[in-house]
Amino acid sequence: MEHITDRHGLRQWRQRCGTVGFVPTMGALHAGHLALVEAARAHTDHVIASIFVNPTQFGPQEDFGRYPRPLERDQQLLIEAGCSALFHPPVTAIYAGQDQTRVRVEPLGSDLCGRFRPTHFQGVATVVAILLNLVRPDQVFLGWKDYQQVILLRKMVQDLAMPVAVVGVPTVREADGLAMSSRNRYLAPAERQQAVGLHRALEAAQTAWRDGERRVESLVSGARQVLASFGIGDIDYVEVRDAETLDPLPVPDQRAAQTRPVMLIAARVGAARLIDNRILTLE
Ligand code: PAJ
Repeated sequence: MEHITDRHGLRQWRQRCGTVGFVPTMGALHAGHLALVEAARAHTDHVIASIFVNPTQFGPQEDFGRYPRPLERDQQLLIEAGCSALFHPPVTAIYAGQDQTRVRVEPLGSDLCGRFRPTHFQGVATVVAILLNLVRPDQVFLGWKDYQQVILLRKMVQDLAMPVAVVGVPTVREADGLAMSSRNRYLAPAERQQAVGLHRALEAAQTAWRDGERRVESLVSGARQVLASFGIGDIDYVEVRDAETLDPLPVPDQRAAQTRPVMLIAARVGAARLIDNRILTLE
């Protein structure tokens, strides 16, 4: 695996490759990230991953400083996963210091997680736009775990006519259903037991939907009850939205009958802010 840290090295690597699949990450890799590498390998000749803890997507009170950075372990995992190259730039190779441009996808970027993390998606869209311009991949692989991120970046790529296909990859979970996340390591053992409540709440909504419940408010209150039963009280949101656009479901009665709905949850468990989602299906 080639280890690239500057723009020139990246350009040279890119010229030697056929089709390229790109997996952007912030490191502290787990099986969820590696599933993206695997999907990219199945679609493209060469896979490049990036590890860049992007300062512009963290709020002032958030965990940028203490975000885990186990580089050597990450490199080893990427080699084992069959990654062709790693782009691991310093901050100065991404943000020149005099930069004035920010990519905003609105109103989607201010909705859902954006309500609680006001500058987060602007930071995500900006860094991914820069990374796509540097790497110039044919396809970029993103996890459905971060559902709003996939929809938002797909919109950015479409709106800015960027020549790249956005491929979503299913969420990889722990044995009990907890979605894998670099932030799960912030959970104390008792909190780890509570954290599975997000998955259980989504499962409850899925069961209710399959059994014919079509009222959004019932689906949401059922999920909230499950969260409460796991002792999860610090909830940012529980929402049911259109799975393609993330728009609210049609008003006034908010019946989810005609649409493909997705339930999305964000909640705090101890020091970790956890998110999860599930498309509601008839099976
Ligand atoms: P990060 O949180 O490191 O995640 C990198 C990629 O891995 C994202 O596409 C994310 O959705 C995916 N991922 C994380 N956990 C997953 C899981 N359990 N199953 C499947 N995929 C999973 O998301 C970011 O970094 C950043 O915002 C980034 C896009 C790199 C921009 O800085």
